Amino acid sequence: MIIAIDGPAASGKGTLARRLAAHFGLPHLDTGLLYRATARALIDAGERLDDSVRAEAAARGLALTDFDEDKLRGREMGEAASVVAAIPAVRKALLEMQQTFAARPGGAVLDGRDIGTVICPNAQAKIFVTASPETRANRRALELAGRGEKVDYAAVLEDIRKRDERDSSRSSAPLVIAQDAVVLDTSALDIAAAFKAALAIVDDKRG
Ligand code: DC
Repeated sequence: MIIAIDGPAASGKGTLARRLAAHFGLPHLDTGLLYRATARALIDAGERLDDSVRAEAAARGLALTDFDEDKLRGREMGEAASVVAAIPAVRKALLEMQQTFAARPGGAVLDGRDIGTVICPNAQAKIFVTASPETRANRRALELAGRGEKVDYAAVLEDIRKRDERDSSRSSAPLVIAQDAVVLDTSALDIAAAFKAALAIVDDKRG
């Protein structure tokens, strides 16, 4: 069974994807890490984020095992990832890696922006996780503070809005709701309630 979880930044999709994966005993891929690691490789090499030739090479050079999440989770990396993610050659370079992961025997859970639309259009269960920008900014601010980053709520909200706009308006695999996805708005839900709702959606799809 392939479970595709998409949604905007800080919607809670990562937490739900991890929990669903643990519940069903499936491997999980946070595809945002691929774009974050691509951006990180460019920054570490002193390259520009919008250099499509170098960005594609950085994406092709990634291995699923070399993610240092601590270095990839910060506020700046999210923004940088959104910039490289708009480059079609980068998306193409990362497509096969994601589809190979999804094709594991038994299935997988993937979360990102284009899983249900582009990477796994045949996924059995597709959930589009969302929440209001203010709720997402609150969650992201708490997460960043927990990581020891200095947090300015207004700046985090501005980041979220900017990323929503960039991720939704790019020409290549924009953030859109797949036709057969179920929308789960977590604005008024805590993690336990959101997980219960997500599980109900998946169980319903499994018949
Ligand atoms: O989910 P995240 O915040 O870690 O993602 C970081 C950026 O990567 C996001 O702003 C857009 C991009 N991304 C994407 O374009 N497609 C995906 N499947 C996952 C992430």
